[in-house]
Amino acid sequence: MKVSEALESRLSVRSFLADPVPVETIRAILETAKRAPSGGNLQPWQVYVVTGAKLTELKALIQSRLGVTPKGEGTEYHIYPPDLSEPYNSRRFRVGEQLYAAIDIPRDNKFGRLLQFARNFELFGAPAALFFAIDRQMQQGQWADLGMFMQSIMLLAREYGLDTCPQEAWAIWHKTLGEFLGIPDNLMLFAGMALGYREADHPLNHLRTERAALEEFTTFFGD
Ligand SMILES: Cc1cc2nc3c(=O)[nH]c(=O)nc-3n(C[C@H](O)[C@H](O)[C@H](O)COP(=O)(O)O)c2cc1C
Repeated sequence: MKVSEALESRLSVRSFLADPVPVETIRAILETAKRAPSGGNLQPWQVYVVTGAKLTELKALIQSRLGVTPKGEGTEYHIYPPDLSEPYNSRRFRVGEQLYAAIDIPRDNKFGRLLQFARNFELFGAPAALFFAIDRQMQQGQWADLGMFMQSIMLLAREYGLDTCPQEAWAIWHKTLGEFLGIPDNLMLFAGMALGYREADHPLNHLRTERAALEEFTTFFGD
């Protein structure tokens, strides 16, 4: 598979088949993804891979807590800036509306939207979860490194016929995950990632999200 094909075919998949992903495959993906660059070669990523019975246990644990605290434990970092300006706010709003429209959940169906949001914590049916953490001393540069590492995983997944959904939503369960996975206190949970085989027919997986025109984010100098 060409890199461009991996990029073009990657999307955030929100309905997966139950088919398991062999741990050897996840290991192979991580072995290659670790070639991702990082400033000063710090390699500031830590990954927790959860599958099988342990994943079933995690889902049940979150399920039991969701009913009591649907908004979780709060986040340790701002998932979005508190006063998100334009054009970012509109972009965020639009993709949300497109997603809910794909499964016919209108704006006033708050409960329906909450239930769909809660699907994050079932990994949208994926049989494997990856959780990413980073040392608290790390700065913006190292968070960018972690992002490159995650994108490397998402592109490599395509080569294996696999799909992903990166999930910052898991940040609201940072305490529960910290305890469940034994994440040391010096690490901060960034996000989760669902990994598995896409349910091709599902309308949620048919959304081709929009991107701004090149001119909106690129400044060329020279000839
Ligand atoms: C770091 C990161 C965190 C994200 N967190 C979530 C999430 O918690 N739940 C979700 O459904 N999608 C999540 N997404 C997916 C974005 O909504 C998606 O990448 C964006 O709308 C573009 O769509 P695409 O990935 O299908 O191209 C996340 C994406 C990134 C990069």
